[in-house]
Amino acid sequence: LFAGGAEFLKGVVAMDGLPPDDRAEVCFAGRSNVGKSTLINALTGRKALARASNTPGRTQEINYFTLGDGHYLVDLPGYGYAEAPVDVVRRWQALLKAYLSGRATLRRAFVLVDMRHGIKPVDEEIMALLDTSAVTFQVVLTKADKVKEKDRDRVLRQVREKLSKHPAAFPEIVQTSSEKGQGITTLRAIIAGLA
Ligand code: GTP
Ligand code: MG
Repeated sequence: LFAGGAEFLKGVVAMDGLPPDDRAEVCFAGRSNVGKSTLINALTGRKALARASNTPGRTQEINYFTLGDGHYLVDLPGYGYAEAPVDVVRRWQALLKAYLSGRATLRRAFVLVDMRHGIKPVDEEIMALLDTSAVTFQVVLTKADKVKEKDRDRVLRQVREKLSKHPAAFPEIVQTSSEKGQGITTLRAIIAGLA
């Protein structure tokens, strides 16, 4: 699936701008700056396909990428960014909500969680929305390279404990580092398996 290369298709700012729902898609959700765009670049092997940045709130549209004739990869705007203007935040939230609850071809939502921080209340809000929408979601821990070996178990326990309360949660947790390439092959295989 990933061998054919990936291309940017379009940025979407409203539900009527979504591409035709003619194929499977997976999306990447998570707090601002968690590493969504960087992960898409790592998965596709393209350094700057999705725009990544140190500035939180970089991705402001729903960005669609195509994997050859296969799946769409969908990079979502980050949530929980306190500095953004209130009206902008409201508009994103409404779009995010409409997208997550109304996209029939959405096979799985990957909810990215910074491994240093674990699951935060804003992550749980999204998870609750996914429960309600019956969209299966899977937690991908990011920036594993920044967490010491001795601290990993504690984070994993917190994440497992939280996930047990969400009926739409897929139980397997994937640990990744886009920096070191950890977990990338695993995640590619998971996506390829979602026809
Ligand atoms: P928004 O678009 O603002 O929601 O952010 P995002 O989730 O797309 O985050 P982005 O990919 O732009 O990454 C944010 C910062 O985290 C960048 O400086 C990345 O280089 C860094 N980063 C992302 N993944 C990793 C990782 O696995 N390890 C390390 N060390 N840094 C990472
Ligand atoms: Mg981004």
